[in-house]
Amino acid sequence: MLRILLVLSLAIRASSYTVYSVKDSYLRNDFLDWDWYSSSDPTHGRVNYVTKSTAIAENLTDATDTTFRMRADTKKMLSPSDPGRDSIRISSPTAYSESVFILDLWHMPTGCATWPA
Ligand SMILES: *[C@@H]1O[C@H](CO)[C@@H](O)[C@H](O)[C@H]1NC(C)=O
Repeated sequence: MLRILLVLSLAIRASSYTVYSVKDSYLRNDFLDWDWYSSSDPTHGRVNYVTKSTAIAENLTDATDTTFRMRADTKKMLSPSDPGRDSIRISSPTAYSESVFILDLWHMPTGCATWPA
């Protein structure tokens, strides 16, 4: 399970200290409006990124009043020639440079083949 609260702040430099202000925040089903990447993995990993509609249909994502979840497929049997396990890759609609990101996660995947970036 993954719940994400992301608050993005931009740094505004003052003479001796840095002041941050919230520029964007994303909660729960806001992530459904992010950009869903479904082309081949640019890092050549063994993964099959799916569209948002496929992710919803395959129960790889869901959003409720309190959570947004992303999952990788754990049910399909893959053959060696398959591109990889169905998974999700999303990006914020805005690109940021000098920023601070704050995440509130219930669970961050760890272990082999996970790459929370
Ligand atoms: C979606 O997957 C989660 C995690 O495996 C599971 O708890 C839930 O029951 C599934 N929902 C449906 C509709 O299959």
